[in-house]
Amino acid sequence: MTAKKVAVLGLDYVGLPLALLFAKKGFEVVGLDIDLHKIDLLKKGKSYISDVSDEVIQNESKLLPFELYSGASAFKQCDYVVVTVPTPITKEHEPDLQALIHASEFLKSEISKGQTIIYESSTYPGTLEEVILPILEQSGLIAGADFYLGYSPERVDPANDTYSIDKIPKVVSGHTGACLQKINEFYKEVFQEIVPVSSPKVAEMCKLFENIQRLVNISLVNETNSLCEQLNIDFSEALQAAATKPFGFTPYYPGPGIGGHCIPVDPLYFVWKLKQNGLTSELIEAAHQINEQMTKKVVERAKQRLAANEKNILIIGVAYKKDVNDVRESPAIPICETLLDEGYEVNYYDPHVESILLKGRKFESVELTKEKIDVADVVLILTNHRKVDWKLVKEAKKIVDTRGVLNQY
Ligand SMILES: NC(=O)c1ccc[n+]([C@@H]2O[C@H](COP(=O)([O-])OP(=O)(O)OC[C@H]3O[C@@H](n4cnc5c(N)ncnc54)[C@H](O)[C@@H]3O)[C@@H](O)[C@H]2O)c1
Repeated sequence: MTAKKVAVLGLDYVGLPLALLFAKKGFEVVGLDIDLHKIDLLKKGKSYISDVSDEVIQNESKLLPFELYSGASAFKQCDYVVVTVPTPITKEHEPDLQALIHASEFLKSEISKGQTIIYESSTYPGTLEEVILPILEQSGLIAGADFYLGYSPERVDPANDTYSIDKIPKVVSGHTGACLQKINEFYKEVFQEIVPVSSPKVAEMCKLFENIQRLVNISLVNETNSLCEQLNIDFSEALQAAATKPFGFTPYYPGPGIGGHCIPVDPLYFVWKLKQNGLTSELIEAAHQINEQMTKKVVERAKQRLAANEKNILIIGVAYKKDVNDVRESPAIPICETLLDEGYEVNYYDPHVESILLKGRKFESVELTKEKIDVADVVLILTNHRKVDWKLVKEAKKIVDTRGVLNQY
């Protein structure tokens, strides 16, 4: 029997591990991306995300990477199509569906009868059936009869060694019963546990709510942490003690603010959907505001430790969370930019991030040396990567530790 074929559109933090998983499970995988640089790297056996090694790419002969349009004929032969393109937010905090619409326009012109198409990008409830379905049906083919359409939210957690993607229960939905059945058949071959829900809207809402819950709880923990500081209470000890409760309590940990492509963004997709319907969520709006204020609070904490003539700040970690190389929506960016605006000399060290753009200027990670630690007027810890030599960091004369990482050393 010949192997079934899967096309994956969008090969980054979500799409690349997924494409490699499909290949591992025996599917032939056509990987499509608009970013030629990424396609070139994959063809050379090089990875560009921290969770995937070069070796894994080099050993995987079932993954064939193509620039989107040059992969059209390979795409047509695929049985399954999985869409993992970005869904960011505009400056006005509105959903930016450009990539989803662009990918759907491509599918509309290249779709083959019988294909099963699954969208995995996080988005507001209603996107699949109100925005995407009408585009795909402009092909003249009908979903549920000529092709199959569904939504399955992606739950990958970069740098999480405990839950690899095939072990995370997979929520699936279909536009029709026949669509759901096709998606079920496919994903049963890939994931350990399938969780079917009654409609794409429910599956879309499920993903948003997972991240809304995190935004609200992380904002709560950050606010409580700074209130406890003012009351002179050791919040990290209180949190540690609370976390021993074996039921009904999930610990979230303080930090410099929420980053990444999901948690700060997805709740705003829901807020937008609410506004379209004349509704609001006071709790989500408040949590968002608390998160927005974190930059200012962290900058103030660093400045309070400095005398008027002390200007040299060494930042440890600019990625939005530990052990990843992703700086999207990372609080480190506005924190560094604010410090630069205020005339401070800012250097950073991040073992996963070679360079970043701050105020349009490229900054490269410095090496972490005793000399760099000694020369810094304050060391500001923003990300708790495992690879950092924390014992060396601890030798700094002044430290602001937004992650509480030094308590472990
Ligand atoms: N990163 C995460 O940890 C995570 C976790 C769960 C869900 N998600 C969701 O999954 C989706 C993808 O996330 P990501 O972090 O991989 O996004 P990303 O921005 O890192 O990458 C998506 C890839 O899609 C490519 N792309 C853009 N437009 C395209 C098009 N029209 N056709 C083909 N390729 C295109 C980009 O070049 C990029 O390589 C988003 O909706 C995100 O919210 C992300």
